[in-house]
Amino acid sequence: MNTTTVCFRALICVAVLAFSTAVGAKELKLGLIVPGDHAWSQAAKEMGEELEQRTDGRYSVTLFPAGQLGSEAQMLQQMQTGALDMSFMTVAQVVNRVPEFGALFAPYLVDNEKQADQLLRGPAAQGLLEKLPVKTGTVGLGYGVAGMRMMLNAFPSDNVGALDGRKIRITPFPPVQDFYRLLGAVSTPMPLTDVYDALANGQVDGVDADLELVWKLRLYERAKTLLLSGHMMFPVVGLVSGRTWAGMSEPDREVLRELTRKHLGELAAYYMAFGEKTRADIESEGVNVVEAGPDYFGDKLDQWEEIWTKKAPVLSELRKEADAL
Ligand code: BEZ
Repeated sequence: MNTTTVCFRALICVAVLAFSTAVGAKELKLGLIVPGDHAWSQAAKEMGEELEQRTDGRYSVTLFPAGQLGSEAQMLQQMQTGALDMSFMTVAQVVNRVPEFGALFAPYLVDNEKQADQLLRGPAAQGLLEKLPVKTGTVGLGYGVAGMRMMLNAFPSDNVGALDGRKIRITPFPPVQDFYRLLGAVSTPMPLTDVYDALANGQVDGVDADLELVWKLRLYERAKTLLLSGHMMFPVVGLVSGRTWAGMSEPDREVLRELTRKHLGELAAYYMAFGEKTRADIESEGVNVVEAGPDYFGDKLDQWEEIWTKKAPVLSELRKEADAL
């Protein structure tokens, strides 16, 4: 073989290798229902960038925010078939498939987002993730948080009786439906994007939300009482399709798990810092802030606890862990 032939063959080898690297590279599609400027989307974007670096380009992440791929229920189905690789999804949606997760929405389980994050890293919450492969065909990589839940109401809300008969927009899933039923309210499910108009035209009288949503969706323009209750945490879970997971090597799985946990785990600090300022911003728009703790809700909380201790026995373990925080 002469020198020209050797060089030519070497060139072909390099070209084949380069081509096979590109072919082997995997783009992970990640869906979210929140808009692109929401903190969960930012966490997903940063996770994807770091994943690409850490795997030398073998994996990248393409985001589909704002429900571009459908509702969370639809995305869960897509992950089951392998049509979608990943999602940062509300745990609310997961409760519809695995009711045990409802225990995470126990009223006043934690005081703030930092405690929520600590509890979600504990054995009871982590144990719940193990139920996901069988029940949903997905693997739960880790949790993050949104802001603690509040209510923004278009009516004076100085006592719990004020909620009786009021139409409140909720994210529809059983723990929250039970909560508002016990309060005598009429829970009204609707996409977040419709809430502004619904408050304006009286279709709803209030909304169960966090400060980020009240601020970014400008809901404070349509309802002037912020019930600063912080009554529940609102976690997000990083899910990967079981089929995608099966195609990954063990070291790549570990990197994906580590980075998902890292970036979702940073959300608590963001919401802790963001909360004070947003509350002040909302107040400066002429919104009346009513501070409310567990006493505001009276015996309704015990009634909720009784129902959910039966539906989700893990609640007792979560309460013990929360008490120790
Ligand atoms: C909600 O339905 O209220 C919600 C959805 C995603 C992120 C935060 C809140």
